[in-house]
Amino acid sequence: MDKCLILVLGVTGDLGKRKLIPALYNLLATGQLDGCPIVGAALQSITSDQVLEQARPYIDQFDPVVWQQLHHQFSYLPIDISNLQDFKNLFSLVQAQLQLYNLSKKILVYCAVFESLYLSATAALAQVGILYKHAEDDLEWCRVVYEKPFGHDYKSVRILNDVILQHLNEHQIYRVDHYLAKEIVENIAFVRFTNRIFEQLWNFNHIEWVQIILDETLDIEGRGGYYDRYGVIKDVVQNHILQLVALIGMEQPLSLSGSAICDAKAQVLKSISCQDGILGQYQGYQNERQVAQCSSTPTFAALRLEINQPRWQGVPFYVKTGKVLGSKQTKICLKFKSTQEIGSYNGLISANYLTISIYPQAGFDLQINAKQSQVGHDIVPVHLNSYYSAGVFVPQVSRAYENVINDIRQGGRTFAVRMDEIEFSWSVSDQIERLQLPIFPYQPGSFGPQELIEWQSRWAFVWY
Ligand code: BG6
Repeated sequence: MDKCLILVLGVTGDLGKRKLIPALYNLLATGQLDGCPIVGAALQSITSDQVLEQARPYIDQFDPVVWQQLHHQFSYLPIDISNLQDFKNLFSLVQAQLQLYNLSKKILVYCAVFESLYLSATAALAQVGILYKHAEDDLEWCRVVYEKPFGHDYKSVRILNDVILQHLNEHQIYRVDHYLAKEIVENIAFVRFTNRIFEQLWNFNHIEWVQIILDETLDIEGRGGYYDRYGVIKDVVQNHILQLVALIGMEQPLSLSGSAICDAKAQVLKSISCQDGILGQYQGYQNERQVAQCSSTPTFAALRLEINQPRWQGVPFYVKTGKVLGSKQTKICLKFKSTQEIGSYNGLISANYLTISIYPQAGFDLQINAKQSQVGHDIVPVHLNSYYSAGVFVPQVSRAYENVINDIRQGGRTFAVRMDEIEFSWSVSDQIERLQLPIFPYQPGSFGPQELIEWQSRWAFVWY
């Protein structure tokens, strides 16, 4: 694999310490970062050791030897994003590390800062020479990863992109969504398009509804400054959830490669409309640090979406997500229409359901009907399933951020979301905002606002 320097801007933030440092640690542990210096930069005036210590609780399988190696390869520089001199010092550190590791100029910058800082950070990195435009086949390269949310509405994303394009060429820009890097999510297109039994039935003739559930038990984890500005729609619906809707809703792509899948997803994203929904805010949210006292930011959403394309005529896509709910689960479920009654059988025959579960177990479950064993002819639902943990797929499922970093080092775009997809997703998010949906309080640890029950009975469905 291409050796490069990895620069994490905002390394002391939530994403840096919870996800990126643990991912880099895991890559080191498996020998995939040998000879790659890691540079971290953020506002906090602390030492390299202290930065790593803050991330240590998030390391799963702690090994002192790997930890030592991480200390050895990692250096940290406190910087203020508005201070150009700090960026000049960062450039010197980057150059020194490249020399020390005898590397040519190959730099992967991970922007783990607030989206509102993307412009100034990119401009400053370009001004000091860490970033520059280059041709796609140049041997030396610099690539920049921008986390979601990229922009904060339809208008802002265009401006953001135009300014970034003054400093970088499109092929150097990676707007990632870590959901696309989850093995099971990557697998959706493969399962859909390599199994005739699914693809033939994947339309309004056979599907009653689709549900996408991303329930979380976590609160906003001290991220009040960020969360209160964005809320649940911009935090997870505009990106993770709409990407899942697009993967389920897309037509067959020309191939199962990155850009063909982006083409197919974009067609779905531009056809999504939201007619109805309800929002919620957990009790106690307004006491969180950096949250406005009378904040009306939603932390819960249940929405009814439609894809305005022939394949999905009249099929609702129900999505639900929220913070501090009773259990953490992430899944997609498709309910197939019921079969016609058969002969003289009086018992209930369940519909078929296909569940793609992402968390806690990653895998597929198909609920079918069969005769109960031994006695009588009662028909009961049985589950045909396969989960990653059961060892049917790869034994060790690599984690999302490791996939992202490795793919981009090789110039891959598998987990990057294309600009047109992002624009379409923001227009859905803007549309939801314009609906001015009602917002209700809910108890931490519950299923969401009580009003959800009335809402779902109005649409005559239950969450699977
Ligand atoms: C992040 C959101 O993008 O996704 C978080 O900012 C959310 O608020 C997280 O908790 C959920 O990701 P995962 O992989 O834990 O389901």
